Amino acid sequence: MRVSGTADLWWKNAVIYCLDVETYLDANGDGRGDFTGLAQRVDYLDELGVTCIWLMPFYPSPDRDDGYDITDFYGVDPRLGSHGDFVEFLRVARDRGIRVIADLVVNHTSDRHPWFQSARASRDSPYRDWYVWRDEPPADGPEGVVFPDQEKTLWQYDEQAGQYYLHRFYRHQPDLNVANPAVRDEIARVMGFWLALGLSGFRVDAVPFLLETAGALDAEQLPDPHQYLRDLRAFLSRRNGEAVLLGEVNLPYPEVRRFFGDEDGDELTMCFDFIGMQRLYLALARRQAAPLAESLRERPPAPRDGQWATFVRNHDELTLDKLSDEERQEVFAAFGPEPEMQVYGRGLRRRLPTMLNGDLARIQMVYSLLFSLPGTPVLFYGEEIGMGEDLREEGRSAVRTVMQWTAGANGGFSTADPSSLAARVVEGPFGPEKVNVAAQRRDPQSLLSWMTRLVYRYRECPELAWGDCRILEHDAPSVLAHRADADGCTVVALHNFDEKPAEVTLRLADVDPGTRMVELLAGGGASVGEGGRVQLRLDGYGCRWLRVLHPGETTLA
Ligand code: NOJ
Repeated sequence: MRVSGTADLWWKNAVIYCLDVETYLDANGDGRGDFTGLAQRVDYLDELGVTCIWLMPFYPSPDRDDGYDITDFYGVDPRLGSHGDFVEFLRVARDRGIRVIADLVVNHTSDRHPWFQSARASRDSPYRDWYVWRDEPPADGPEGVVFPDQEKTLWQYDEQAGQYYLHRFYRHQPDLNVANPAVRDEIARVMGFWLALGLSGFRVDAVPFLLETAGALDAEQLPDPHQYLRDLRAFLSRRNGEAVLLGEVNLPYPEVRRFFGDEDGDELTMCFDFIGMQRLYLALARRQAAPLAESLRERPPAPRDGQWATFVRNHDELTLDKLSDEERQEVFAAFGPEPEMQVYGRGLRRRLPTMLNGDLARIQMVYSLLFSLPGTPVLFYGEEIGMGEDLREEGRSAVRTVMQWTAGANGGFSTADPSSLAARVVEGPFGPEKVNVAAQRRDPQSLLSWMTRLVYRYRECPELAWGDCRILEHDAPSVLAHRADADGCTVVALHNFDEKPAEVTLRLADVDPGTRMVELLAGGGASVGEGGRVQLRLDGYGCRWLRVLHPGETTLA
């Protein structure tokens, strides 16, 4: 496929890397990461092949929801640095050709935000109508608390205000009222501010909740919430034509598709594939490809210029909320049987390598899948070195421990402050001596070396992310075989979910006998036989990517 087209629509085969500045690299020695430290590690990310950094919230915050509770949308938390440090980091990233996006958390504020402080103090406050108030919780209001361990209701009575306010998440996170035009204007100003400093877009937090009108926002003021999303996207594109909105929309596929907009895709540029992620774990638990293959068949195509964002793990619980109760129990039994490994009754608070008992071949196979499936892969920091979780940490914090740069307890962070984030040893599944960047970069067999190789092959094969994806039929239930086609180029990928080796016969009906298939992740290859038949063998948890060398096509591999 021609690579020239991939530069404009950069997000369609990007490598996105999510990190929290606070846990990344501590440059000033206070036991907490900072922007100066992050700038020092841009070259590391460049070497890995990352093309876009997603910054988790770095704004001033009382930190009762790890920074997703914000008191100033225009600020930088002084513990992480200044605006100057932020801009310096952006400059370094831009110099290395890496774009930066950041969390846009405008469904709610912290209850300590000056807007809320003013709103609750008086009905006459200009900020009163920036939040959603009721004298009584409405009977027709939204349902379902997100954090059932902490909250029982979505409406909190506020003594000072004399009314109830809506909070989709924790009670200390009152929802903003986007039906109010003044709030919508302010959100646009916030976006414009960070775009002007050099961001290339936003990961938009909790999009369906932001737009929820039924019993919450005033439907008369906001008759078509999707029109608001279209307005936001249009504003973004006016300010920066290459900027993206990457939305958190954990809903069934047909509903997620609506958040991309109609055929013209004028709402969110990208949406996370939560369904595919959950089906992947079911497939891993069953050691069968079918659950994942089904989701790939069901997944609606993104609009022409849009893209799905695929992932194995993120900073939250590994949610299994879209599986059936029985399916969820299967995944729990396989990967998180102990109650302390589970959270909210719907998810796991573990990272992948520990769930797979440190089985390197199996872990490598999962990442090979991630990079070969259609969509743009999003990595969560530490995945590239196989970091594990720390179950002693509360709730979702188990997977948010500090990045391990060097061997030993603190991974390179200062532990001068015993309460610092780094004061605990995080046991990776291969042992602390191996789960750190310093050890892995010296080892060509390490997970880090594998990930770097995968990233480069993926970038060299844009048809994987962009192309038409077809699941290939064969007789081995443990194997997912798919092909990606674009501009007359074809890559075939195979993944074995079982520990037993497997052999498959594929039929590439449109490929001439004698055509060579070149192996992309290792040496060797295969040759297409009569009727387009190809016989391919896979090791237990094996994975193979093969480029079909159509007449006149060349490859570096
Ligand atoms: C979604 C974020 O991913 C999560 O970490 C956060 O707690 C909630 N939104 C509330 O902001």
